[in-house]
Amino acid sequence: MPTSVLIDTDPGIDDAVALALASRLPELRIVAITIAHGNTDVDRATRNARLIASIAGIAAPIIPGAAAPLVREPRPARETHGPEGLGHVIPAQEPEHEIDGAAEAIIAQVRGQRKLTVCCLGPLTNLATAIAFAPDIADALGPVFVMGGALNVPGTQTARSEFNWWSDPEAADFVMHAHLDLRLVPLDVTRRIAIPGSAIGALAKAGESDQQARFWADALRFYADFHQEYERFDGCIVNDALAIALVADPSLAGWEEMRLDVSLSDGAERGAVRRSPEGGRTAVAMSVRASEVLALLERTVFARWLEPGSLAGGAADAERWLANAARERK
Ligand code: BDR
Ligand code: CA
Repeated sequence: MPTSVLIDTDPGIDDAVALALASRLPELRIVAITIAHGNTDVDRATRNARLIASIAGIAAPIIPGAAAPLVREPRPARETHGPEGLGHVIPAQEPEHEIDGAAEAIIAQVRGQRKLTVCCLGPLTNLATAIAFAPDIADALGPVFVMGGALNVPGTQTARSEFNWWSDPEAADFVMHAHLDLRLVPLDVTRRIAIPGSAIGALAKAGESDQQARFWADALRFYADFHQEYERFDGCIVNDALAIALVADPSLAGWEEMRLDVSLSDGAERGAVRRSPEGGRTAVAMSVRASEVLALLERTVFARWLEPGSLAGGAADAERWLANAARERK
């Protein structure tokens, strides 16, 4: 029996890869996709999710959600994900003004199917709002996989903070303390899932005659240019795809039990993870079989255009980058 999963997401380039992966995994059945502000505004993120769904053949309903964090201003990551949220891809469809129905949809799905798995790939505004409106769903929820936070590796937003938690720290903190069966997938593991620059080049070549390959090349090339400019890394990190892979097969990661808080301060600590005896209890993915995840991505999403083994070097590239970052931090 496949695992039914509700995906909350802010597409977003790596969100696009994650959705495509979810659509190809026989272990998963997507019951709904709810959309959050984050990498781009919620109207664009919703339009992007519809486009990705049409490419990936996803029939599940797509429900627009929160346009802004619980208490802060939205700060879309246009330098990372591009003006439309999908790198160099410019969708034909203009964004439209969307009505927020995500929290209600999450509540209805969880009440309709006890122990539903949820996988959050963006700021946690929608899930926090759903639980605040309907606290009974906290008990009814199944495992909640969350891509967010950074423990022992550099953050993406500040040296200490990862983007999703930085965007809406109040929502992240609320979710951390909601007594859920939480499975946190932080940058410590997602930074190991790198699509090498050479594979993006091969997708661009295939894209000369294949529209879908061009879509992926246009999206990923933008993200890779960002990594090159800001981090001197040749390739792109597809954080959210790992969270989806772990929903399908949690044994791909090594999990540690922790109690964690989220910093609600401003500046460099905003959204940072803090270990604390009063923190919310969560299982945290602290190691991952990155080569296997990359092989899975290659097989399921990119096999039509890439030679076998094209993504294999990504794990070692990421390992080297992380080792270097650790040396520089000492
Ligand atoms: C997270 O932030 C976004 O840029 C990505 O989509 C991912 O969810 C990584 O820090
Ligand atoms: Ca995301």
